[in-house]
Amino acid sequence: KILILDFGSQYTQLIARRIREIGVYCEILSCDCEIDDIIGFAPNGIILSGGPETVTSDDTPRAPQRVFALGVPVLGICYGMQTMTEQLGGRVESSSHREFGYAQIRAHAHSKLLKGIEDHTSPEGFGLLDVWMSHGDRVVELPEGFIRIASSDGAPIAGIAHEEKLFYGLQFHPEVTHTRQGSRILSRFVLDICGCEALWTADNIIEDSVHAVRRKVGSDRVILGLSGGVDSSVVAALLHEAIGDQLTCVFVDTGLLRLHEGDQVMATFAEHMGVRVIRVDAEQRYLEALQGVADPEQKRKIIGNLFVEIFDEEAAKLADAKWLAQGTIYPDVIESAGAKSGKAHLIKSHHNVGGLPENMTLKLLEPLRELFKDEVRKLGLELGLPYEMVFRHPFPGPGLGVRILGEVKKDYADLLRQADAIFIEELYRRQLYEKVSQAFAVFLPVKSVGVMGDGRRYDYVIALRAVETIDFMTARWAHLPYDFLDLVSRRIINEVSGISRVTYDISGKPPATIEWE
Ligand code: XMP
Repeated sequence: KILILDFGSQYTQLIARRIREIGVYCEILSCDCEIDDIIGFAPNGIILSGGPETVTSDDTPRAPQRVFALGVPVLGICYGMQTMTEQLGGRVESSSHREFGYAQIRAHAHSKLLKGIEDHTSPEGFGLLDVWMSHGDRVVELPEGFIRIASSDGAPIAGIAHEEKLFYGLQFHPEVTHTRQGSRILSRFVLDICGCEALWTADNIIEDSVHAVRRKVGSDRVILGLSGGVDSSVVAALLHEAIGDQLTCVFVDTGLLRLHEGDQVMATFAEHMGVRVIRVDAEQRYLEALQGVADPEQKRKIIGNLFVEIFDEEAAKLADAKWLAQGTIYPDVIESAGAKSGKAHLIKSHHNVGGLPENMTLKLLEPLRELFKDEVRKLGLELGLPYEMVFRHPFPGPGLGVRILGEVKKDYADLLRQADAIFIEELYRRQLYEKVSQAFAVFLPVKSVGVMGDGRRYDYVIALRAVETIDFMTARWAHLPYDFLDLVSRRIINEVSGISRVTYDISGKPPATIEWE
């Protein structure tokens, strides 16, 4: 297994995902962690990530010096290479020549790391690689025992190696897909140089987790709040595989779900897989609690609190349950660790439906704690969950509650559900669903005038929203084809009685959030 020391690069998680894709387990620790934590993890190799700081200043982070005395291979990427250089006696300089974006590097000596890996061959017989650079500083003097293994126009020393100690440094980023041979370079490091085996596959992960869960819970009973979202669904399937009937899921139907969503969740889990699911029909309670409330933050609070209240009531009925399972995944763990150490730069503050009940006496079971979203999805497929469920767009905890502007009413929710279902159905039909990151309809409680046949209509408005994004922190509105939007608009107006106008949201995030409330 591989340890990644994080110096704050936006790409650190990407390094981890690439290593896992190669089939090798890895974890991320902050660069200022205790050396004992590093030794305790017993890595076969260590990767030092990039970072936003400069090693030319004294008060910026360094790797624990003992990292270089553990006898394991080390790969420094960007800032990681620079700090390795500086810590081992070389020199790094700030350069006025910033290099950002595509660059071509020449691979030099026959280093173990880059040998035989190239995109093109130069006329003189050098291997050329197309890579992604992002740096201001550069290495100007090698530490003792090191050789140069790559150079570019902007960085005469773009790669370094100490072949006996198996220390390597790369100025470019092998973890981003713009570096075309990036995965091969990382594979070379973790498989050939560190000697790891590619055992981290969906099959093995499931087998290991099943054993771990059985060992942990024994014959105890476990409860899980099932929402129908990817994470809780995969937890349900995994726990069902591990402990069968010892698992009880509580599915709260808030009345703010999408068309037929509640029935689909029950069909998949209860009927098809034989999971014990208690469905709580709470629509009436939600509508009453939300009556007369128009403020978005207040709505969110009411919806979240009511969920905890209902979940608590159900949990109390299962008095012998000892464990509460949750769909926490690795990015959540990293984010909250970062939040504690003050390192995370971007923290999402959305509180999810499924928040922990207060004064809880149950022990926490989080079988996906070590997994990235793409791994969770692979597990879901392997465990037999339907493809559409595993690859469904994200749906916010408060559900349609934040897609009906202002006060929530049942007839608004019903109109919205129908319009949303038409939009999504057409996206699937035109093979556009997977091209956008998230798409949905929003209900606007304003009336506008229309004519239909000979009659005048005075009906509500639906806004369509579709965005493309990687991280949901920023997003661009999806440039859906006009004829497609035309079709969806006509279908909604013709088929959903009560809607006479459809608009398309062309706002980017920032400043407009993805949801309307
Ligand atoms: P915004 O609207 O903040 O949304 O641009 C970014 C992403 O987060 C989702 N979202 C939520 N998810 N609970 C959730 O679990 C929430 O309260 C919540 N609010 C927004 C939103 O759907 C989008 O994917």
